[in-house]
Amino acid sequence: MIDFHTHILPGIDDGSRNVQMTEAMLCEEKRQGVVIVIATPHFYADRMSVDGFLERRAEALEKTGEIRRQSDTALPEIIAGAEVYYFQGMGQADAIPRLCIGETNTLLLEMPFEQWTETVLKDVRDLISKQHLRIVLAHIERYIGFQKNMDIWNRVMDLPIHKQINAGSFSRKDGFFMKDRKKKFCMDFLRKNPDLMIGSDCHNTDSRRPNLEAGRAAIAAALGEGALAKIDAETRVVLDL
Ligand SMILES: [Fe+2]
Repeated sequence: MIDFHTHILPGIDDGSRNVQMTEAMLCEEKRQGVVIVIATPHFYADRMSVDGFLERRAEALEKTGEIRRQSDTALPEIIAGAEVYYFQGMGQADAIPRLCIGETNTLLLEMPFEQWTETVLKDVRDLISKQHLRIVLAHIERYIGFQKNMDIWNRVMDLPIHKQINAGSFSRKDGFFMKDRKKKFCMDFLRKNPDLMIGSDCHNTDSRRPNLEAGRAAIAAALGEGALAKIDAETRVVLDL
């Protein structure tokens, strides 16, 4: 089991506050059966440089490696990535491939929380065709409410991209957005797009804790174990595993 989207590295963004919290989150991931955690701290181009971000991420990774080395049990493996927030012109920005996950050309892209425009569409298209990146849109369920005009949404979804949904959005009891409407959207979307990824998008040990277990149970109950097998297979493909 792979948690594709987490803010588990200590002290780098609004996720885990320190090594103690990171350790507790890793233990919880392990308890739920997770063997690989993709660490995806927020990257905002208007607030930080790629070099500065990668330096801070390396430090946080080093601290996390120390937790794993000192642990009595085998904690999940960590692969470093980023959750890169959209900015205008990113389709042409040379440094973007450096933010891909591990050694892959897979980029976790956080889209704008507003009506998407032709410019947004063009940038995503450029990331794929000019920068040759494999794009995974982070938590797609969180943008739909901002799309009054669905035209660009539909055209983005038609691009050769991959989509990620937060595990909590499938389970009403354990979600960041706990509304039935959101759960229904996610289940319907998964029914039509079985090749997507899920992640906990965990930030801490309470309000946004690792929750793949509950999300997967909700998916299995609604769509069967086969749906989880497809998610797992697709996840391995985008990670070159
Ligand atoms: Fe996130």
